[in-house]
Amino acid sequence: MEFTEKERNMLEELKSHEKLCIEKYKRHSECAADEQLKSLFNGLSEEEKEHLDSLEQISNGTVPPLSSEDKPLPVFTAKYKAVLSPEKTADMYLCSDVLSGEKHVSCLYDTAVFEFRDKNVRDFLNHIQKDEQTHGKIIYDYMAANGMY
Ligand SMILES: [Fe+2]
Ligand SMILES: [Fe+2]
Repeated sequence: MEFTEKERNMLEELKSHEKLCIEKYKRHSECAADEQLKSLFNGLSEEEKEHLDSLEQISNGTVPPLSSEDKPLPVFTAKYKAVLSPEKTADMYLCSDVLSGEKHVSCLYDTAVFEFRDKNVRDFLNHIQKDEQTHGKIIYDYMAANGMY
């Protein structure tokens, strides 16, 4: 598959954002106080790695097959009470940070969908965008369960 210069630049930009997401979730997982949040961030880091791998494949001319499976959303139990403790404040900061990152990345995918000529690439980028929105939903659910939102 041949890409225009604009398309290639877009793929490079998306890849650099996915790398940042992978790294950020890893580091945030190490910083989080709540074990649930640690494993949540770890899992999301893995999913961002899958996004990066898919973008690499697309860059090399192959669009990966679309998986239709919708994983069930995790359910969180409240670790934090209504009062603000230093741990809660710190974990809340981590969540707000990654939530704003997901919003930003989702916008980038939205723009990218409009830039590509190939329908399969568009569909795949749209599929990743939906994943990013799901990441946002999961983080929101964690925050809501812990009185952070
Ligand atoms: Fe991603
Ligand atoms: Fe994400």
